[in-house]
Amino acid sequence: MRITSLQHYHEQYQFSIQQPEQFWSRVAEEFVWNKKWDKVLEWNFEQPDVKWFINGKLNITENCLDRHLDARGDQVAYYWEPNDNDDEPRSYTYRQLYHEVCKVANVMKRKGITKGDRVCLYMPMVPELAIAVLACARIGAVHSVVFAGFSASSLAGRIQDSDCKMVLTTDGAYRGAKEIPIKKVVDEALELCPSVEHVIVLNRTGEAVHMQQGRDTWWHDEIRDVADECPAEQMDSEDLLFILYTSGSTGKPKGVVHTCGGYMVYASYTFQNVFQYREGEVYWCTADIGWITGHSYIVYGPLLCGATSVLFEGVPTFPDAGRFWQVVDKYHVNVFYTAPTAIRALEAAGVDFVKPYKLSSLRVLGSVGEPINVEAWQWYSDNIGKGQCPIVDTWWQTETGGIMISPLADITPTKPGFATLPLPGIQPILVDDKGNEIEGNGVEGNLCIKFPWPGMIRTTYGDHERCRTNYFATYKNLYFTGDGCKRDEDGYYRITGRVDDVINVSGHRIGTAEVESAINMHPDIVESAVVGFPHDIKGQGIYAYVISTKQNDDQELLRKEIIAEVNKFIGPIAKPDKIQIVSGLPKTRSGKIMRRILRKVAEGELSNLGDTSTLLDPAVVDEIVKGRL
Ligand code: PRX
Repeated sequence: MRITSLQHYHEQYQFSIQQPEQFWSRVAEEFVWNKKWDKVLEWNFEQPDVKWFINGKLNITENCLDRHLDARGDQVAYYWEPNDNDDEPRSYTYRQLYHEVCKVANVMKRKGITKGDRVCLYMPMVPELAIAVLACARIGAVHSVVFAGFSASSLAGRIQDSDCKMVLTTDGAYRGAKEIPIKKVVDEALELCPSVEHVIVLNRTGEAVHMQQGRDTWWHDEIRDVADECPAEQMDSEDLLFILYTSGSTGKPKGVVHTCGGYMVYASYTFQNVFQYREGEVYWCTADIGWITGHSYIVYGPLLCGATSVLFEGVPTFPDAGRFWQVVDKYHVNVFYTAPTAIRALEAAGVDFVKPYKLSSLRVLGSVGEPINVEAWQWYSDNIGKGQCPIVDTWWQTETGGIMISPLADITPTKPGFATLPLPGIQPILVDDKGNEIEGNGVEGNLCIKFPWPGMIRTTYGDHERCRTNYFATYKNLYFTGDGCKRDEDGYYRITGRVDDVINVSGHRIGTAEVESAINMHPDIVESAVVGFPHDIKGQGIYAYVISTKQNDDQELLRKEIIAEVNKFIGPIAKPDKIQIVSGLPKTRSGKIMRRILRKVAEGELSNLGDTSTLLDPAVVDEIVKGRL
């Protein structure tokens, strides 16, 4: 159901909130179902318990692949652009992709993987990662993709949490100028993961790796003698499709669960409408499949809509800061979707890297993952879009499954820094800290959603209570996003950032508690507190205050060791930018760390530290301010 004008959007929006079941059932009817649903929706946000398209039977890969074979079997589904310019690019038509998916699905079946089993994918951005995702879905295995930058310890935690039976991986990875060991990380992780019976290794870099007999086999050996047809497993709408781990304000990362029917309908509907993708166009999302953006807008959304996409292995700055633009010209990309942090980094590199490229194919530009500052928005619009392309600033989350608040390209009038208006079916509400609705325009509050949508989180894997307390218990009968938000005089939404203890570093969600526990693993660290601070390129940086038993020793050495500890327990993405060694932390008399003060110091807002009189020892604040980095 494509929206074609602003008036049409308003009509559809009204229809979607007045008659949500009719609205979503019309959208869902566009897909292939083996059996139609009996009822569109059952829900309550108390438990929470949300079900869409009840008793519907389907397989998402039949909608991504089989459905397209007649009309677009020979159309390219993916152009793959390798990390290195000189390396051989590849492409897959829908028919080729279909057969590759079937082959890997058959390999997994032969290894004993059946419906409901969890399979972990720890791979860089090679086409085989998308193929593996779809192969899991083909046979009803639940995929858990772990971004290949996470450490062995993080990987192990995720594999253990969902008892994965199999891991698909590569020998190594190319990332910019670096060659990264991948299998080695898997080997280390698997020492702690007895549930894993099989590991299949794709040869990417050719580096020597250890292959454990009886457990590890090569991808190319496995697919050599399997059939290239594999019947799709019949799935219930509410059967699990995937788990994706994400950080919260407390504890370990949680496994966000998405299910087959609702996620399919939502990923496809949002892709089609936000980007206004037109038949024959080339679309490129620069995210990694290891994040939700890659799941919904590299794999599922575009394939469900029969799109042609670019899949990129590399990074924006290799071999130089013109790489994105070179790739745009090479494939005549029409729709380009990236993150503000990349835009800011490329802006900082200077327009000389943009000038050699025409960029005349571009029609729509997208942004995702963090608030986009007005300056970056303007630079993107002027230098990349040449003032001709609408920018869709898409707000959403791992938990929402798809885009929630965003302009529709060329339909919704845009405003720099604003995600603008909710998509049909999405009912945002702003509340104060007590949960009272803040009505009207020109207001600010905590962003919640008051009615279910098909792509929403169903549970957190193995711990439903955690899902309830995290998202549904803060405000009664509302899904709480964790974001702060303004609604301006025109009713446009502007996301201001997280209001909880989550930091958004280069569009990656990092829980402060996770970083603190990694730092605390260092034997000399007594206690630590981690907060975010504004960072020109990354959006937010990580500021760590640490108390060490060895105050006066070599501080630089201690910092290096702390960073190594974070690398080991999480990965380089959580590396603190600043580490201040302190003798105490500002605590209330009940022992609670006053993060508000630490945040202000990190942000450099020293004149307004607020009331410090309730602190156990107000003198620590002076020391912290003096030693600020
Ligand atoms: O704070 C919001 C920010 O990213 C968070 C979700 O992170 P994650 O689950 O990793 O998903 C990122 C990709 C969808 C949100 O709670 N965020 C995401 N998009 C935007 C954004 N903040 C402002 N504007 C956006 N467009």
